[in-house]
Amino acid sequence: MSRTPRIDFLPHDADTLYATPGRVAVFVGPDGPESAVARGLDERTGGALSRLASGARWGRTKTGEVIEIAVPAGLAAEAVLVVRHDLDADRLAMRRMGGAIAAAAGRGELTILASELRHADEVALGVALRTYRFDAHQKPDAEEAPEGQVRIMSDESEALARAAGPMAAIAEGVAFTRDLVNEPANVLTTDDFAARLAAMQELGLEVEILEEDELARLGMGALLAVGQGSVSPSKVVVMRWEGGGDEPPLALVGKGVVFDTGGISLKPAGGMEDMTMDMGGAGTVAGTMRALALRRAKANVVGLVGLVENMPSGNATRPGDVVRSMKGDTIEVINTDAEGRLVLADVMWYAQERFKPSGMIDLATLTGAIIVALGHENTGVFSNEDGFAEALLAAAQTEGEGAWRLPMGEAYDKVLKSRVADMRNVGTGREGGSITAAQFLKRFVQDGTPWIHLDIAGTASLKSDWALGPKGATGWGVMALNRLVADRYEG
Ligand code: BES
Ligand code: MN
Ligand code: ZN
Repeated sequence: MSRTPRIDFLPHDADTLYATPGRVAVFVGPDGPESAVARGLDERTGGALSRLASGARWGRTKTGEVIEIAVPAGLAAEAVLVVRHDLDADRLAMRRMGGAIAAAAGRGELTILASELRHADEVALGVALRTYRFDAHQKPDAEEAPEGQVRIMSDESEALARAAGPMAAIAEGVAFTRDLVNEPANVLTTDDFAARLAAMQELGLEVEILEEDELARLGMGALLAVGQGSVSPSKVVVMRWEGGGDEPPLALVGKGVVFDTGGISLKPAGGMEDMTMDMGGAGTVAGTMRALALRRAKANVVGLVGLVENMPSGNATRPGDVVRSMKGDTIEVINTDAEGRLVLADVMWYAQERFKPSGMIDLATLTGAIIVALGHENTGVFSNEDGFAEALLAAAQTEGEGAWRLPMGEAYDKVLKSRVADMRNVGTGREGGSITAAQFLKRFVQDGTPWIHLDIAGTASLKSDWALGPKGATGWGVMALNRLVADRYEG
């Protein structure tokens, strides 16, 4: 598992500050140190901050950038991190500043001066998100403090600690998703994944694991066809959070392909290792449920994940096989690499039959085509209801998570017609591949169920560090979904 730093909030105290080891971060505006603590630190360091702020470099420094003053006179600290601050910086800008501080500070001790700072809770969240790293399988770095510790000093430390409470829940949900997505497939098997979800019962979630015999009884022939080539058993895990009244739940459905070789339609070797992240949809559903439980959300939300491994073997599904979904529709499997939609078809149908949800959102690393369309900046959004889609887009924007809606329509559906079954699992060409995948899923959405499909193939994992995390799993969607629940389902 990863390590996330403990963040302590303590009252501002000059003597403690001057004697503190590690790094000290201070916010300084365009005209130099303005807050009482920044002026105090300036005085203590013999005017280091005001000299920095009157130099030419400060004029070129952008809001949110960090300049390090090494071994400052007057302090025990090894460095002061001067954050270029802008008084009207909004919540997301403050979150990113927290990220920038964490990136500059590395893993050692860090003290952030937050008195008089607006949205200091966001700085804490940014630090927590950016400090995440996945080092479960690496030797400890000898130069690092074993436990990175973060202190935030503020004249209003108690109010700040209260405000930051829900944010800690969010950061932990994101870290949980990132851990799952980063974990290699020999560790995160379907069994291991289900066990990690079952452990969330401690948080007050109700967790049920449906095994293969039960899935067969339910008629989930599409999902089972994907996992049948693997020695790891297929599973569906149901996580229920009941913090609301009697109203029907929001359903979150996740694609949990713990590894996608493509099956008999085998993927090329180059980059195949990236398919450890093909359970990203399930990972995001799990991290969202964790955040909701940790902050005791006043809403009913059910998370369902289909956990399978897509492997070639003597027992694997072949191209041309016809399988029967739980809905009853038959599917001609033209390409065994278009497996995610087969998993989702059955889990979505089950979610609707059992829970009659007021809305359903599925998340999946579904298509390479969405990366061609949107790159790594935006998740693809598809929906059958404008109001629902707009609420999701607004929630994503509020949280700074990129999301962009794409069209659907009859014309895209035609290519799914099969000669031998009710439908085929891929279109006739590669054109509009993300949309035809969404059209396939839509066939498993019941009349009257508001539905959103989120294709996170491009956003679930990144190849380079970014403002709020290191390279690797991002946890995209945990914050947007948590926000959607808070704004639309919690009063
Ligand atoms: N898991 C992949 C999609 C994917 C690609 C996720 C790149 C993350 C990064 C999915 O199962 C898949 O293989 N899709 C095929 C569909 C095709 C066979 C119609 C694809 O995108 O090539
Ligand atoms: Mn695939
Ligand atoms: Zn896949």
